[in-house]
Amino acid sequence: MLAVEVRDLRKTFRSGWVPRRVTYALRGVSLAIPRGVIFGLLGPNGAGKTTLLSILATLLLPDAGEARVLGHDVVREARAIRPRLNMASGNSNFIWSLRAPEILAFYGRLYGLHGKALSRKVDELVALCELDEHRKVPYHELSTGLKQRLALAKSLVNDPELLFLDEPTLGLDPDISVRMRAQIADLRRKRGTTILLTTHYMREAEELCDEIAFIKNGEIPARGTADALKRQIRIGDVIALRLDPASGEGLAELPGVLRCVSQDGRVECTVDSAEKRLPQILSWLHEQGVIVRDVDVHEPDLEEVFVELAK
Ligand SMILES: Nc1ncnc2c1ncn2[C@@H]1O[C@H](COP(=O)(O)OP(=O)(O)OP(=O)(O)O)[C@@H](O)[C@H]1O
Ligand SMILES: [Mg+2]
Repeated sequence: MLAVEVRDLRKTFRSGWVPRRVTYALRGVSLAIPRGVIFGLLGPNGAGKTTLLSILATLLLPDAGEARVLGHDVVREARAIRPRLNMASGNSNFIWSLRAPEILAFYGRLYGLHGKALSRKVDELVALCELDEHRKVPYHELSTGLKQRLALAKSLVNDPELLFLDEPTLGLDPDISVRMRAQIADLRRKRGTTILLTTHYMREAEELCDEIAFIKNGEIPARGTADALKRQIRIGDVIALRLDPASGEGLAELPGVLRCVSQDGRVECTVDSAEKRLPQILSWLHEQGVIVRDVDVHEPDLEEVFVELAK
């Protein structure tokens, strides 16, 4: 069964009177996310990521279209889904004077936990998210990294089957981001939690996600695995050559070579497939009597795909 099934989902925000502003946040999004995967929603600012997550988490009503989460309709059957999902945002904010265990206990009570079960759950989450040393620190004194960890801990208070993470590593140091990602990967591995996360960071999406959907202007122009996306966008592989003599004349006319530029004493050929074209290029150069001093093959990374799609 699918964890998330979205068909032609639309959401428009209307704000202000004079002038009246209309924002088309989602313009017909369709998506199917299987259970047990980590799915990444990648897109520029204002693309509609948070809007989509909020609708799926039953926090916002769509204008049109259909969204089913864990088999239930998000509008008509919200009550059936809510106990089974949770959401954490990189922009979370909790009551400034409360300490991590108090904040977790507050949310635990909302899900019906009390007494021993509640204190066990709080201890478990404090340990899981490595907040033990910071038990006595009020929320506003915690560092950004610790606040983010607390937001993640809070989102696990009801052992959700489905977890929405909105920019879980926003504003974190690289080393803390790495730990946060490892923890997210662990949740799926150890608990089988289905995770839908939004991010601006290509590396994060590439490392963590089984599948990625690009969202832009409220639409999804492309989705697939990181590898499939790279192939689909067809930016091409780059073969960089250091030649003797240095000119790469004639290379641009070879089959499969899309572009050829000379810079810093190197010739960079963009080709449809490096695997296929590299042997052909090398044997052609050999025939021409050109010596190849160095070869470097570079496949496009997701960042380049992102830039291409965001154009
Ligand atoms: N409550 C609101 N009222 C009016 N417009 C809104 C509201 N919430 C979002 N929008 C608009 O809807 C569009 C999509 O916003 P959303 O927050 O979903 O984008 P996002 O992809 O999460 O962006 P970011 O990467 O900056 O978090 C934006 O143009 C935004 O200004
Ligand atoms: Mg957002």
